[in-house]
Amino acid sequence: QKHIISISDFSRSELELIIDTAVKLKTQPYPELLKGQVVASCFFEASTRTRLSFETAIQRLGGSVIGFSDSTSTSLAKKGETLADSVKVISSYGDAFVMRHPQEGAARLASEFSSVPVINAGDGSNQHPTQTLLDLFTIYETQGTLQGLTIAFVGDLKYGRTVHSLTQALSLFGCKFYFIAPQALSMPDYLCDELSDKGINFEICDSMEEVMDEIDILYMTRVQKERFDETEYVHVASKYVLTPEVLEGAKDSLKILHPLPRIDEIAIEVDDTPYAYYFEQAENGVYARQALLALVLNENI
Ligand code: CP
Repeated sequence: QKHIISISDFSRSELELIIDTAVKLKTQPYPELLKGQVVASCFFEASTRTRLSFETAIQRLGGSVIGFSDSTSTSLAKKGETLADSVKVISSYGDAFVMRHPQEGAARLASEFSSVPVINAGDGSNQHPTQTLLDLFTIYETQGTLQGLTIAFVGDLKYGRTVHSLTQALSLFGCKFYFIAPQALSMPDYLCDELSDKGINFEICDSMEEVMDEIDILYMTRVQKERFDETEYVHVASKYVLTPEVLEGAKDSLKILHPLPRIDEIAIEVDDTPYAYYFEQAENGVYARQALLALVLNENI
């Protein structure tokens, strides 16, 4: 079974294969690649981009989708069914099982009970490997390489699963990182230790301005209100806001990415600058997820 649980399960050559496949699928549609295959898309936690881009990816490759979003999962939980039982049943209906769940480790647990490949679409604040695949594809598309880039990560680096997955993946490509976050939301120690052990060059900084002229990618993230109580949230919200003024001195080739949704961390005026690339990034979710599904489900690709 090719379960997709954590980005750290991928080698550099596997990531490169997925990116190459996404590049091809963006220019050349394959409407029959998943013909006759059924994918269960089960979101135990809210999603717009991940769910809809997965479902678009499946349908554009000729496959069919079954599943639910979080409103149905609430009724599953109300009935008292365990995740293991839900997984055993749902995996018997499809050829792959795409799953988002609020608990860290839920996708790994599901893979122990599933009869088909499980694809982690986000588990709590742990991992979001398919977001990383579209991020890597987008970085490659905008910079022509993944090797040796300088990338600043800004916002909620503690709970931000997209940052956790992406730094692990980019550490295979000799990139340099700057981490910019409110103190209460800094990168977890275990991930910093992991980067140090791998000899990755990273620095913790106070502001975006101090690194602006050096960076190739500015990766903004949202402070995730749903992971705080109200009193904690007001202390960490809106500390880092990107405006056109903050971008002064940026390289012409700089691109701003954001997994979306945004709240106020990127001012609307930034959308009109040549640096903004987050909506193209969201669209790339379709091609990156098509590439992954094709490689997981179609042995002939
Ligand atoms: N980027 C992302 O995971 O967005 P959704 O929560 O809308 O899926």
